[in-house]
Amino acid sequence: MIKKAILPVAGLGTRFLPASKSIPKEMVTVVDRPAIEYVVKEAIAAGIEQIILVTHSSKASIENYFDRNFELETTLEQKKKFDLLKVITDILPAHISIVSVRQPQPLGLGHAVLCAKNIVGNEPFAVLLPDVLVKDSDTENDLSLMIKRFEASKSSQIMVEAVPDHMVDQYGIVDVAESPVEGQSIVMQGIVEKPAVGNAPSNLSVVGRYVLPAQIMQLLENTPRGAGNEIQLTDAIAMLQQTEAVEAYRMKGQTFDCGSKIGYLKAVLHYGLDHPTLGAEFKSLIQELNV
Ligand code: G1P
Repeated sequence: MIKKAILPVAGLGTRFLPASKSIPKEMVTVVDRPAIEYVVKEAIAAGIEQIILVTHSSKASIENYFDRNFELETTLEQKKKFDLLKVITDILPAHISIVSVRQPQPLGLGHAVLCAKNIVGNEPFAVLLPDVLVKDSDTENDLSLMIKRFEASKSSQIMVEAVPDHMVDQYGIVDVAESPVEGQSIVMQGIVEKPAVGNAPSNLSVVGRYVLPAQIMQLLENTPRGAGNEIQLTDAIAMLQQTEAVEAYRMKGQTFDCGSKIGYLKAVLHYGLDHPTLGAEFKSLIQELNV
């Protein structure tokens, strides 16, 4: 069973400046919750019980958000603001633990994942990149389906979605004999990090959700620097795929790249419209704009 998930949150978020100058980009709010909470909830909905944050000294507010705040809780209790008390104590279910480890140097995503080696031990694990929010299209989320597929096939799962051809140079791209239907996996022939436009093996991009075996850690230890002079998770997956089957899972849900400003605005619109208490009023505000 996959119970652990690594969330690399050490990145400085330069694409989100100036907002990310003094707060982590992961703490920027999408409607009324920080973006990172949606990603943590996605992991929990897929059965994850331990969240491993790979973090940086400037990002303590992420850990604080998921910790208890005794002073605030006591004040709310004394003032009998029990609704608000519930809002903050319900952020994490009791069976979930959050641990963190530092990434001492910005050496890339592969290096960030490797920093969690001792915490994952010999267990397979999930990786969720917090820039991307994945909105479910179904009662069972994509990560949960990937985990089930991993357990049945014992093959690593890499979540992919189709992107326009001119955007392939922004992502990891998989090489597959044919594009799987949404919600299904196919063994991939290769994977390459940010290929040049016109040189990509497909238009299926790596979304930032992975289910991987513990063994990937040994491969990461031996992965030379790749694209951007960084240690790339994609390169370690390419090595893994030389010795065992790795599958591309085509997602059903919708992605929002909150690492980009326009992706973030789109997320606010979608999550705002779906918000249980604000949604209806937010919709009429948008209609009033009449643009
Ligand atoms: C990372 C991965 C890339 C993936 C992307 C998804 O790149 O290296 O393979 O497609 O996330 O967002 P980054 O965006 O960190 O450059």
